[in-house]
Amino acid sequence: MNKKARYYVRLQQILTSAFFILIIVPTLIITGVTASSSRNEAIEKIKISETLMIEHRKDVINRYLRRQEELLAVLVGLYPLDYLGNQKNLDTVFTAVSKNADIVDLHVINASGEQFAYVGPYRNSLAGKNYKDAPWFQEVLISGRHISDVFKGYRDIPHFVVAVTDPLKEYVLRATINSEIFNSLLHNAQIGPSGDAFILNPAAEFQTPSLQGVNKLRPSEKTLLEHHEGTSLVMIDSFLYATTWMKDGQWLLVIKSRIEDSLGSYYENRNRNLVIIAVTSLVALVAAVLISHFMVVIMEKGDRERANLNQQMVQMEKMATVGRLAAGIAHEINNPLQLITSQAGWIQELLEEEEPEQSKNRNEYLDAVKKIKHHVHRAGTVTHRLLGFSKKMSSKNTMVNVNEVIEETMSFVENEARNNSIEIQSKLDPSLPLILTDSSQLQQVILNILNNAIDAMIQNGIIEVVTRADKKNLYMQFSDSGPGITEEVMKHIFDPFFTTKAPGKGTGLGLSICYDIMRKLGGQIEVGNRKEGGAVFVLTLPVTGTA
Ligand SMILES: Nc1ncnc2c1ncn2[C@@H]1O[C@H](COP(=O)(O)OP(=O)(O)OP(=O)(O)O)[C@@H](O)[C@H]1O
Ligand SMILES: [Mg+2]
Repeated sequence: MNKKARYYVRLQQILTSAFFILIIVPTLIITGVTASSSRNEAIEKIKISETLMIEHRKDVINRYLRRQEELLAVLVGLYPLDYLGNQKNLDTVFTAVSKNADIVDLHVINASGEQFAYVGPYRNSLAGKNYKDAPWFQEVLISGRHISDVFKGYRDIPHFVVAVTDPLKEYVLRATINSEIFNSLLHNAQIGPSGDAFILNPAAEFQTPSLQGVNKLRPSEKTLLEHHEGTSLVMIDSFLYATTWMKDGQWLLVIKSRIEDSLGSYYENRNRNLVIIAVTSLVALVAAVLISHFMVVIMEKGDRERANLNQQMVQMEKMATVGRLAAGIAHEINNPLQLITSQAGWIQELLEEEEPEQSKNRNEYLDAVKKIKHHVHRAGTVTHRLLGFSKKMSSKNTMVNVNEVIEETMSFVENEARNNSIEIQSKLDPSLPLILTDSSQLQQVILNILNNAIDAMIQNGIIEVVTRADKKNLYMQFSDSGPGITEEVMKHIFDPFFTTKAPGKGTGLGLSICYDIMRKLGGQIEVGNRKEGGAVFVLTLPVTGTA
């Protein structure tokens, strides 16, 4: 890749990156900002719903416990110890109330803490127990009601109890709450697959089983136990903890949910955005590549045209200079040449009149005079061409059939070509339009090109002549199977006096004259090499002014 091609590749890369960045960066910023604000919004929503949920649960549990308490209070209010202390009566009452209450047993305990009567599954293990010193018993005597923490008690199974007494009655009625039903009040909360809901006492003991099978708080979770009013929301290790104290600060209701579990719709949105970004990036990349490619192509074309124009200007400049110089020199040389010719002619005439015996070198003189005339003629041709070159040619424009001009010109070189075993093939488009141009000047150009091709091939070869036209231009293409043109020759090929031919064989004016003529005819001449070898010249003439 040459320097120029590398420059355009680099330019395209820079433009592509610039366009890509211009399109994609704002998209990324907007999406990023939206994503982060929508994540925050989603988290805020989760916090609100968590708060509502824990408050609802607290309400449900409180109402549930109150219902159990109320039931026992009604029983204590209704029945004296004598009645309820009777096992049969207690059995009947239990059968009646256990349908509506979630209790698994009923205990009648007299004022001195002795178990008076009991109905329930733990009759044996609880028989003959005295609760006088049990803290709950002390408390119920003082405040009339008590809901215990979870404890194992005499039956050795975790449970909690509700106990009630009436100041006028001399007994305490105690019931064990159905833990399964109580736990389900908590576990019904919508907490997601890795969430949890449980109740703790201030000593961090689990009052209800954890859904995740945990039975101890992690050290980082200890802060949850700090006392607070109402509902508190805390984030610990990507979990959101909603906590609220209940039962006068004896139970801490905890609902724990993994933030990520609840961000489903946020993630859906985010994934959709990622797909949009991916598609946008792809489209942006394709657009950036296409736009930059398009721009670079235009720039490259512009640069090329400018370079061509510059080259043409330089060429014209050269021609103009040479033209002026040539006119002067040609004129100056022409006069002495004429004099030499006429003097040589005179010497020839004189020599021809001489008696051969009197002049023994007569033939050599005649020979020399012939050579002088020949070379003067050659020099005359050069000066003639130079004068033609410098003259402002007045073109005689007529409607010209270019194919005919080519065929006629080909006939001029036919003999020479045949003698050198060179074949001239032509593919002339019969539908070529007639164009308004100077046929004899065009013929001069074609003749020059054909002669050059024959000279280049020397012996054996093919010259191919093709004509075609489009809406704007008419093209004449001359390709040969010669050696082609080297880069060095290419640089100077249209320069006046540039020739690679042996001295005396070529003036180097042919193509520079062609160049000049084509320009004056409003067209152009281009040169290149064929892939398969050999040179190719293309003449272009505008078809404007066609008949
Ligand atoms: N068909 C071709 N193949 C290879 N080289 C070419 C061909 N046509 C032209 N050239 C090269 O271009 C040079 C310049 O050509 P140009 O017609 O201007 O001058 P010339 O042919 O050398 O001289 P003159 O036209 O006076 O005979 C030639 O000397 C030759 O090196
Ligand atoms: Mg030539």
